[in-house]
Amino acid sequence: MLEVKTVNFRRTKVDTLVVPVCEDRDIHTDKTITSLIDAANAFKEFKGKKGDRLTLFEPAGTRITRVLFFGMGKADALDGEAFRAMAGSAVKFCINAGLPTMTIATPSAADVTIDAETLFKTLMEGACLGNHVFDRYKQGKEKKTVKTVVLTASAAQKKAYTGLAETVAVVCGASIMTRDWVTMPANDKRPETFAEMIREAAAAVGLKTRIMDEHWLEKKRFGAMLAVGQGSSAKPRLVTLEYAPKDAGKTIVLVGKGVTFDSGGLNLKPSGSIETMKMDMAGAAAVAGTLMAVARLRPGVKVVGVMPLVENMPSSTAVHPGDIIRAYTGKTVEIGNTDAEGRLILIDAMAWAIEQYKPDTLIDLATLTGACVVALGEKIAGVFSKDQRLADAILASGRGTHERCWQLPLPEDYKELLKNDVAELSNVSKGRWGGAIVAALFLSEFVGDTRWAHLDIAGPAWTKKATDYCEAGGTGFGVRLLCDLLEKV
Ligand code: BES
Ligand code: MN
Ligand code: ZN
Repeated sequence: MLEVKTVNFRRTKVDTLVVPVCEDRDIHTDKTITSLIDAANAFKEFKGKKGDRLTLFEPAGTRITRVLFFGMGKADALDGEAFRAMAGSAVKFCINAGLPTMTIATPSAADVTIDAETLFKTLMEGACLGNHVFDRYKQGKEKKTVKTVVLTASAAQKKAYTGLAETVAVVCGASIMTRDWVTMPANDKRPETFAEMIREAAAAVGLKTRIMDEHWLEKKRFGAMLAVGQGSSAKPRLVTLEYAPKDAGKTIVLVGKGVTFDSGGLNLKPSGSIETMKMDMAGAAAVAGTLMAVARLRPGVKVVGVMPLVENMPSSTAVHPGDIIRAYTGKTVEIGNTDAEGRLILIDAMAWAIEQYKPDTLIDLATLTGACVVALGEKIAGVFSKDQRLADAILASGRGTHERCWQLPLPEDYKELLKNDVAELSNVSKGRWGGAIVAALFLSEFVGDTRWAHLDIAGPAWTKKATDYCEAGGTGFGVRLLCDLLEKV
């Protein structure tokens, strides 16, 4: 879908040309483009301010059908995210108008504050990520995605960034696959079905999937995970995906929370909290999506995805508050609240994965706590790690991809809050505050001295409102971040 091309605007026929324009100085050098901008600026309603838009049809002396001008604001304030957002809204405009092709006039790198590679990369990402319509539950498919997006380039840039276009398409394609899984309703992705969907996607990229069923989990004593799943007629599954190149340096294990619906269990969630809980498998979806991209990008590290999948339901077979269960490691846990289920499935999956794969680094992604959303809002994930180098690498990848993260602490003395009179631990805090931290500390009790980071993605995994390059629903959060991170940890 992405092409990097040198374009002569006087000679080439262009259907839809997208031109980003700044209010304070020119960021283009192509003579045709700058004279088109002059023509746009002649209209009172377009000054290149952020949010300004103008369409010109069939400008004289060119073979262009329409030019879409996008105001970008002040040139020195431009960052990669501004170009992602611009390209995303341009693609969305084309989808809505039924335009199948689009050409972006790439600004001159010398005239913006970011480097050429970031400029190309973010434009490509915005175009790919914006080119998505979730319409599998609608009969009339009114909207068609865009077929080709061309980025104009010099001959040298074309040579340098054509490969980049492929990488971006793979990573963003995986991100979109993750979004679709998260947005899909819970009745169509119960653990067994979701596991099969992962298997099918993995087979398409030549990855082998292992699916462990409830009998295997019982034999292996996944007590915490089974307790969460026991209230549902849909049985739990543990799914693994393995990418193992020859001469892999390190092994990285990614574990993703896969609660295909979180009703809360017997501690049933109230209206207002329960409606979007089909998204509670976003961690698992991000891990699966990342492995799909990894299989095609072939990095020099071994990457294993581990996805515990369960449905958390109330019923006569559901786990009760007050029940004591024995986790995979042998530790006993009293269920103080059946709605604190994510941490229970994660501890078994992580402890098993550590034993099985002896990873150099373990990262888990989970829509774990409402408290993390209270702390950081809906767009920023919480990061927890005792290994500051690992935390810093995650924060840096978060900045680069704009999948933003913020580090929260793991204070030893807060572990007090998890103490229990009858079992070794409680799955909930005795106190009212710091819920995201206490949940992370609970997990930390099950990873031993493995180098580990936990990402609480309860906020950013989902968006109620469409954004510049994402529809309302699952966001695919984590896929781009992890793909960027894998070779840096
Ligand atoms: N899946 C939820 C967390 C969540 C909340 C995700 C909002 C996305 C948006 C999790 O399983 C949960 O219910 N957590 C409880 C923990 C509490 C019972 C200790 C919470 O956050 O209220
Ligand atoms: Mn819950
Ligand atoms: Zn949950």
